[in-house]
Amino acid sequence: MIRDKFPMLKNNPSLIYFDNAATTFKPQEVIAKINEFYTNSTTNINRGDYDLSYKISNEFENVREIVRTFINATSVNEIVFTSGASASLNTVAYGYGLTNLKKGDIILTSESEHSSSILPWFRVADSTGAIIKYIPLEKDGSFSIENFKKSMSDKVKVVALAHISNVLGYIIDIKQISSIAHSYGAIVSIDAAQSIGHIKIDVKDMDVDFLSFSAHKLYGPSGVGVLYGKYHLLESSNPYFYGGGSNITYDNCGNLKLKNSPYKFESGTSNIEGVLGLGRAIEFLNENDFEKLILKEKELTRYFIQEISKLDNVILYNPKTDSSIITFNIKGIFAQDVCVYLNRHNICVRSGLHCAKILAKVLETEGTIRASISFYNEKSEIDRFIEVLKNVTLDKCLEDIL
Ligand code: ALA
Repeated sequence: MIRDKFPMLKNNPSLIYFDNAATTFKPQEVIAKINEFYTNSTTNINRGDYDLSYKISNEFENVREIVRTFINATSVNEIVFTSGASASLNTVAYGYGLTNLKKGDIILTSESEHSSSILPWFRVADSTGAIIKYIPLEKDGSFSIENFKKSMSDKVKVVALAHISNVLGYIIDIKQISSIAHSYGAIVSIDAAQSIGHIKIDVKDMDVDFLSFSAHKLYGPSGVGVLYGKYHLLESSNPYFYGGGSNITYDNCGNLKLKNSPYKFESGTSNIEGVLGLGRAIEFLNENDFEKLILKEKELTRYFIQEISKLDNVILYNPKTDSSIITFNIKGIFAQDVCVYLNRHNICVRSGLHCAKILAKVLETEGTIRASISFYNEKSEIDRFIEVLKNVTLDKCLEDIL
């Protein structure tokens, strides 16, 4: 059974973990890989002239190939290791945006984006005079391809969007977006934080220019992520931080020659154990038939939606979600108070604005509750959750607080 491969689930049998959009649990193999690095194989990489360093340097570089295959990139030189999706998105904004945008250019994004996808562009707009524009959402918060088409013009140079909204779970059609954006000469930067662990990603098929994700939402460790970029775009971008390992030479006149991608973006000692753990996480998904796991997750989500829709005390914001994110409120009770109550029943969900503060205004809410499913969840957990939710009242929630 897939659950048995996750120590967090085995060691916490009464915990219901529905916060997988925030982070996922790690399979034993990933933990063992990191443990092995610290217990038997600790070394720095690409710097030591000794066997241990060669061995781990090779393993580290091999993870680039594992990631390349997983997302179907053309070359390992298009795979940059970062500290996570936020660092990847910042690298696109500062690396590509600052170098290539000018006054009056438009950065097109949507009202449902996560802060990490929007805020770096605020800084780029300040520095370059570029303008940020938002594609209006539908009333229910869903993305409208028609509104996207209407928002496009020759002035749009960057389209920055999340593949899956971290609040509403809607999946957008990146292939169509890329095709339209490219016809205007714009590049497309995709925040795949919420999709990487739940959809089979093919960067070539989507024809995306940049794609960012974190390992910790892909059953890997925290503090490590990936920036995929088409090679020529990475080459026309500058790193946003500098240091050892990323340069070929520099001198006391200020001349600097950087390495090519991906190394020019990887100054300093990398999160070596994190990258090795990421590689193991992807191998784990491949070995356990990732596509089948995705189908199980979809079935669980459909069941969750079906059952929660029966509750009269629930406002469901995304009944048509096509991912494993379900967002709702309990009528008349503040989202966080409900979460505190759920916590008392050993249930983990997230409440609040979910780092998507513009979307809250569109949805006219001060916060929502988000449950997010993984393939290791079970129908019985959903049943228990629904039972608790059915009986929640304001008084019961406040009992915890007062
Ligand atoms: N970005 C993560 C989330 O949506 C942390 O919860």
